[in-house]
Amino acid sequence: MTKRTSQLPGFYKVTVAERRKLVSEATGVEASEIARALDRGGLDAETADKFVENVLGTYSLPYGVALNVRVNGQDHVVPMVVEEPSVVAAASNAAKMVRASGGFTVEIDAPLMISQIQLTHVSDAAAATKAILEAKAEILAMADRAVPGLCARAGGARDLEVRTLGEPSDAMIVVHVIVDCRDAMGANLVNTIAEAVADRLAALAGGRVGLRILSNLCDKRCVRVRCRVAAESLATDDMGGQAVIDGIVNASRFAELDPYRAATHNKGIMNGVDAVVIATGNDWRAVEAGAHAFAARSGRYSPLSIWRRDGDALAGFLEMPLALGTVGGTLRVHPSARLSLQIAGVDASGDLAAIAASVGLASNLAAVRALATDGIQRGHMALHARSVALAAGAEGSEVEGVAAIIVEARDITVEAARRALGVLRQSAPRAKPADVPSSSTVLAEG
Ligand code: MEV
Repeated sequence: MTKRTSQLPGFYKVTVAERRKLVSEATGVEASEIARALDRGGLDAETADKFVENVLGTYSLPYGVALNVRVNGQDHVVPMVVEEPSVVAAASNAAKMVRASGGFTVEIDAPLMISQIQLTHVSDAAAATKAILEAKAEILAMADRAVPGLCARAGGARDLEVRTLGEPSDAMIVVHVIVDCRDAMGANLVNTIAEAVADRLAALAGGRVGLRILSNLCDKRCVRVRCRVAAESLATDDMGGQAVIDGIVNASRFAELDPYRAATHNKGIMNGVDAVVIATGNDWRAVEAGAHAFAARSGRYSPLSIWRRDGDALAGFLEMPLALGTVGGTLRVHPSARLSLQIAGVDASGDLAAIAASVGLASNLAAVRALATDGIQRGHMALHARSVALAAGAEGSEVEGVAAIIVEARDITVEAARRALGVLRQSAPRAKPADVPSSSTVLAEG
């Protein structure tokens, strides 16, 4: 049996084919399965035509893996789909720092989603609330009858809450049915329940049915991630670890005090979270909506994570709602999404949320460490230089050669890359990858 490891030294230096072989060995997923699920983006136009409307084709994005990720004592190679250079490398690098102090520790709530039923034209809100609460058992049973498959999987309606919104003269009642969605994200289940119970609720309230839909602010389905990082792991060539800790705590305080900074801080978290959410076929708009509503729950938009000094080390904490599915939806039809779960080695939605949130905290750590030390551009531009080299026509080993030249010259433009390519092609023999420093060494460490 394969012993899963997320440590694959030198991974970034080898070819795509060799990386597939290494991931196959590390995870037990057949290399042929990886090829089948990823070649041509994993989705053909005919299948895509069954997903959405007016299909012309498909649109591919890079599919990478974050390394070094250890969550609750288990290693995970984590698929990430993202177009932004340096996100995968940065997450892997930060996960390595966290791993050296034991990895991420994660707690996950039960997979409870909120089904909202709005009732309007209610003349007596207090009486309506009382009548609905008295009928709780009946409503929960009615909800369960609407989702027999979920109940067979030990999920179902668990509770009911009644809220009154607006002024007494124009009040509306909103009923929340709390539903345990097990390994599903749950949107369809929860919407089905909302529609199934709405008429009965309106009759109990003496009002009319309004909206019937899930809430994406799924704050009963949160994930909490903690990590500790030793000062020596954080040190750079120019800065000692203790000074880096002070810089990161300072960055955290800035985000805690300023919504303008908090938005960007949270973007750094979502770089990691969204990439995993997309790789696993989940609804990233739902995750984004929930995350930002949660970030604003106090009335002021705040960071989802905070960083503090803990003795000589750095301690990080992230809390956010995260409704992910490992069954149903896109997973039924998208081979790359199914592959991602196999590579990550997860079956349960809570385990997937734990991994995605850990990669989010790793991405955040990488960003605030870069900002508190060299600045973000050095590493970022080194990786961006490779895309620019490709755009200038560099091929194979030329890509790294051109990237190294334009980074050195601090002129990362297609024009500069074309000139560098001309120079490289005139010189013989051509540069081999081993001859030039890999730009990804700035952030990546396999
Ligand atoms: C860029 O994608 C993300 C950052 O802006 C996050 C941050 O500022 O913390 C670097």
